[in-house]
Amino acid sequence: MTNQQIVLKSRPVTHASEDNFALRTVPVPPLGDGDVLRRTIYLSLDPYMRGRMGSAKSYAAGVPLDHVMIGGTVSQVIESTNPAFAPGDFVTGYDGWQECHVSKGHDLRRLDPAVAPISTAIGVLGMPGMTAYVGLFDLGQPKAGETVVVSAASGAVGAIVGQLAKLTGCRVVGIAGAKEKCDYVVQELGFDACVSHYSDTLRDALAATCPEGVDVYFENVGGKVFEAVFGLMNVHGRIPVCGTISEYNDPTPTSGPTLRALLTNRIMIRGFIVGEYAARQADFLRDCAQWIREGTLKYREDVVDGLAQAPSALLRLFDGRNFGKLLVRVSPDPTQATRG
Ligand SMILES: NC(=O)c1ccc[n+]([C@@H]2O[C@H](COP(=O)([O-])OP(=O)(O)OC[C@H]3O[C@@H](n4cnc5c(N)ncnc54)[C@H](OP(=O)(O)O)[C@@H]3O)[C@@H](O)[C@H]2O)c1
Repeated sequence: MTNQQIVLKSRPVTHASEDNFALRTVPVPPLGDGDVLRRTIYLSLDPYMRGRMGSAKSYAAGVPLDHVMIGGTVSQVIESTNPAFAPGDFVTGYDGWQECHVSKGHDLRRLDPAVAPISTAIGVLGMPGMTAYVGLFDLGQPKAGETVVVSAASGAVGAIVGQLAKLTGCRVVGIAGAKEKCDYVVQELGFDACVSHYSDTLRDALAATCPEGVDVYFENVGGKVFEAVFGLMNVHGRIPVCGTISEYNDPTPTSGPTLRALLTNRIMIRGFIVGEYAARQADFLRDCAQWIREGTLKYREDVVDGLAQAPSALLRLFDGRNFGKLLVRVSPDPTQATRG
């Protein structure tokens, strides 16, 4: 049996490209004692992967050259000598950009397809959903009646942030690119308004949609979007800095707003990494799984077929060509036939 993998071949200097990756085929090793062999069904593609393609100092080391690209996965166990996992089990873990993987399975979590579609384990009920949950509730601490602004509003994290803020009773304004994304977050997800960051008058458009200023800005983008929102922050405003995707391909960061307003308005800006909030996972899964079941929390997936498409698909995140949580379907999802 063989395994197709995508490895990091070279490091981008500015923009990542498909040429930074290479496809290779290797044999699947025989199983030892306690091993679990699983086939990847879904691979998650996320903005943080751009950072892992480089070697700059960050909260996590870059992927070594010629190593399999890192990535969250949903898989099905096909063979196991580990009593904790049986063939047929669905699991989520970090198996990376490859068709299958063998390990002791220490980082695997078993999934129940009856609870939610298995793909959600790397989306709304996985890392991006949990990022929205802890970033908004633990750092943003929104209160009913406050105004919450979120950028990359139609994406995996932003769409959940906005809906959770609505559930809290806030006025919610999104910032997104294309008109269809702005329409989606207002019409389908129930945001109060959404402004396009392509607008030449972003700051004025935001001011018009946030007449009482901004209490929480959930930052996903950075750069000129951050500057536009920052000037509207209220006294004691909070800015959870989740990501700055506009800067990931740019080694020369843009200048930001001056710090004076930070001081005079006593604004709290706090960066965070979702991996440090493992203690909140049970709360997140309990709340968000229930809101999905009730239909109060909606999500959208953007699914690309075939492992070989992963490099080109990843690049879509950095110019807004994804619409929803970006996933690669590496092999057929056996639960889809039964879902109808
Ligand atoms: N701190 C953490 O632990 C953590 C965890 C997960 C994610 N994140 C961060 O959260 C952010 C969103 O991630 P996601 O997975 O939800 O991605 P996503 O929103 O599904 O996709 C990325 C979106 O970013 C927007 N974008 C890309 N380049 C932009 C630019 N130059 N200017 C303005 N917008 C741009 C695009 O939306 P438009 O078409 O609307 O412009 C694009 O669709 C990222 O910054 C990511 O790094 C952080």
